[in-house]
Amino acid sequence: MHVKELLSLKEKVVLITGGEGKYGRCLTEGLAEADAKVVTASPFLDEGEKVAAGFRDRGLEVEAMFLDQADHDSVMNLKQEIKDQYGRLDVLVNCAVARPMKGYNGSLEQWKLSMDINATGLLDITREMADLMDQGGGGAIVNIASMMGMFGPDLSNYEGLPDEWSDMPPDYFFHKGGMLTLTRYFARMLADKNIRVNAVSPGGIFSGQPERFIENYTKKVPVGRLANNDDIKGVVVFLASQASAYVNGENILMDGGMHA
Ligand SMILES: NC(=O)c1ccc[n+]([C@@H]2O[C@H](COP(=O)([O-])OP(=O)(O)OC[C@H]3O[C@@H](n4cnc5c(N)ncnc54)[C@H](O)[C@@H]3O)[C@@H](O)[C@H]2O)c1
Repeated sequence: MHVKELLSLKEKVVLITGGEGKYGRCLTEGLAEADAKVVTASPFLDEGEKVAAGFRDRGLEVEAMFLDQADHDSVMNLKQEIKDQYGRLDVLVNCAVARPMKGYNGSLEQWKLSMDINATGLLDITREMADLMDQGGGGAIVNIASMMGMFGPDLSNYEGLPDEWSDMPPDYFFHKGGMLTLTRYFARMLADKNIRVNAVSPGGIFSGQPERFIENYTKKVPVGRLANNDDIKGVVVFLASQASAYVNGENILMDGGMHA
């Protein structure tokens, strides 16, 4: 097959959770630019619709739907809505994250809320959407994890900044690490359904952070900068497409070489 064909997502129906967020927006754009029909789903439907409309103005196929990943009924409604509208699902990109804990001393209630969305909800949506993919003969799942699921917090990034910057919440590290193990679990468990499961572990994306943070951070990165809006697009399109047909259960660390 021609390499452009291998990388194309033409005729593919892709669901991305949290597709109106920072990395989510880049991914929604990249997946649609690869010719997929993209559904972005989150609790913030107005914002999702605004983002989707902006991409549609550019001729891309993007639609917003409602999802509260912590609510099983909401997951089932989304599954039905995608089935009714498109008749199939080919790719799931798990990009949504909630950050209810703000630091080390965050409450147990915040931890439980984080579990509901980022752990229980992740399991729920993955199983239900894998079932929908199975009905169409298979597909691909891409989990957006983080380098923070692979390494402990590097507090030196926050030197010279107010204390709250280095007060890292434990739930985020727990979920992102768990996501990588779950990636390998599902890669094995869904293999007989012709569904591949991979992960990307990005480093930080530039989003107007203070100069001091950028200075602390970028001196450790061989590429010499934070991630930009284009960096993750090709990696995820690759994992969603036939170009990665023989890649399964893998995690791609996308950190500009910070941990090389
Ligand atoms: N921002 C970074 O520098 C960075 C670095 C590494 C990894 N990541 C990963 O990238 C992904 C996106 O992060 P981001 O920084 O763009 O986050 P963000 O906060 O901008 O977006 C998170 C998204 O999750 C959605 N969401 C929250 N609660 C939800 C729920 N209950 N149900 C469904 N959707 C829900 C929100 O609508 C939002 O679109 C995350 O998985 C994150 O771990 C981000």
